Amino acid sequence: MIHKHTLIEATMAGAAVMKEYFDKQYTISSKSSLNDLVTEVDHKSEEAIFNVIKKHFPSHNILSEESGPVIQESHYKWIIDPIDGTINYANGIPICCVSIGLERNGVMEMGAVYNPFLGEFFFAQRGFGATLNEKKLHVSDTTDLKKSCLVTGFPYTYLDAPNGPIQVFEKLVRKGIPVRRLGSAAIDLCWVAAGRFDGFYEHKLQAWDSAAGFLIVLEAGGKVTDFAGKEYNHYQPGIIATNGKIHDSLYKLVNGGEVE
Ligand code: IPD
Ligand code: CA
Ligand code: CA
Repeated sequence: MIHKHTLIEATMAGAAVMKEYFDKQYTISSKSSLNDLVTEVDHKSEEAIFNVIKKHFPSHNILSEESGPVIQESHYKWIIDPIDGTINYANGIPICCVSIGLERNGVMEMGAVYNPFLGEFFFAQRGFGATLNEKKLHVSDTTDLKKSCLVTGFPYTYLDAPNGPIQVFEKLVRKGIPVRRLGSAAIDLCWVAAGRFDGFYEHKLQAWDSAAGFLIVLEAGGKVTDFAGKEYNHYQPGIIATNGKIHDSLYKLVNGGEVE
């Protein structure tokens, strides 16, 4: 229970910082590429989250996007994205969130994603289901990829590979299948869990983008694999997360197949 309380407290602490600075002036700089941004608020949110976790669990490991990892002798690791959707945030687009997952011995045990602008708090605990503002979540019932509403994201640096993001996107768009691009992988995953999207795929994510969200999809009754079709591991770059019913069709498509 103490883990859950800490997870919620930490998520809320980061989100409070996001809200506080949304309309204010803050510095923005580039990371891996011109448009891979980090703002002063990412760092402030991260600091607020760290303060909560370190207060309750000073010996736990931490992997957080904007700082080096904290590696200690612990079975637990907190995986943190202090703002998922930084480009949205920096442009005043309120589709962004704090995302925190808690891993035990390499297995994701709990995850929380909070978008303070929509007031949507997503939570899952392994084996106990997933919720949105304490209401149980379930993935959609759509069985046909051709009738699906999908979401994806694109990496900051163009991925020039066969079956890359543009090729897969093009195949879907050519068939008239709606594919959204929200700009926050954590929210994309939660919206699959909520049944708003039937499926999500992305070629290159980091552990902090998906740590909480993938568990939320699984606990909402969905299916999550890597691009090889194996059980998803958040240290793998590729992710396919669906309601389960369209999974095989989407899996074939990202591997070079056609829309069936
Ligand atoms: C990004 C978002 C985006 C995804 C990128 C991520 P950030 O995270 O989740 O939706 O397409 O791959 O890097 O940089 O906003 O934390
Ligand atoms: Ca992210
Ligand atoms: Ca981030």
